[in-house]
Amino acid sequence: MNLDSAESMLQSQIPAKGSVNESTKMALEDAVLSPRFYTTDFKEMDRISIDALRPEWDALMAEYEGDNNADHFQRPADMDKDYSNLHPALYDEFVEFLISSITSEFSGCILYAEIKRKVSNPDMRNLFGYMARDESRHAGFINQWLKDFNIGIDLGFLAKAKKYTYFKPKFIFYATYLSEKIGYARYITIFRELESRPETRFHPIFLWFERWCNDEFRHGESFALIMRANPHLLRGGNVYWIRFFLLAVYATMYVRDHCRPMLHHEMGLESTSYDYEVFRITNEITRQVFPVSLDIDNPAFREGLAHLFHIQTQMDKAKARGGLIGALQRARWAVSGAATFVRLYFMPVQHHTLPVQVRMAPAW
Ligand SMILES: [Fe+2]
Ligand SMILES: [Fe+2]
Repeated sequence: MNLDSAESMLQSQIPAKGSVNESTKMALEDAVLSPRFYTTDFKEMDRISIDALRPEWDALMAEYEGDNNADHFQRPADMDKDYSNLHPALYDEFVEFLISSITSEFSGCILYAEIKRKVSNPDMRNLFGYMARDESRHAGFINQWLKDFNIGIDLGFLAKAKKYTYFKPKFIFYATYLSEKIGYARYITIFRELESRPETRFHPIFLWFERWCNDEFRHGESFALIMRANPHLLRGGNVYWIRFFLLAVYATMYVRDHCRPMLHHEMGLESTSYDYEVFRITNEITRQVFPVSLDIDNPAFREGLAHLFHIQTQMDKAKARGGLIGALQRARWAVSGAATFVRLYFMPVQHHTLPVQVRMAPAW
């Protein structure tokens, strides 16, 4: 499929909107926990070689070309009724979940489409074109369900108005590899849970999660091959960056999930055990590429994450209070949050040797 601009493709799926609505504003918020938009060094991206793993790479590109999810992301005609009838606490958390999901899908879409547009390296052009295609479908699909809530995210506006964070290519690889793999682990854990107890499936969108997260798994595989074909990215001082990204991604997910407990409760899940199941799966997967993983069973690690969530609740209270006292309280909790993060960062990690066989199957 020829992909000129994922953005225009997306816009064609979305009803035109007049002024910027509240939900677009919500998606624009630049809070620490909100998904971000990224840009990178395209010249450096051009110099990436995957020659060391050419056969594996070609097999993966053939999978993308096969496009087994081409017709998956369509809301069926028999589901064209209103699915927004949820009790108030769940309603808010679910809408927030959909908005943050569409923002991260779209943030991936924009980054991948931008890289595809600006690089000349044919391997990178191919890969980022395929991934932009997939993320564009994912974002468009969420928008199809958001309309029940009278919400339409204006993705074209979002792409122009949101602030972009610059990341060197290697940081893009660490961060997007992890977010693709943890995205897989999150969706498959929910899917399996609801498969075993369908009565807790409070919204039909979860029926799509299995094939959806196989896309994310494959995206992660691409970054795994890129990093393994360029092993200097996984050695020396870079290991400290890998540890940083692991902790940043795990801690962000933990705090964000604990801010919306109803969502998990409704599905018969509990946020802490759900998160540790997701971390366990992610730790198993990332052994294909990262020489270290976080010791998620260390009680001090668990206490540290719980403390980060406590700090977030105190920050929210201080923000609501406002004024000078509120500002001072926020500063105090920000320092405490940074200290907790540093303590978590220096906890011992688990080391492993990398497997000869890089590719993995989404077998969870
Ligand atoms: Fe996606
Ligand atoms: Fe993805």
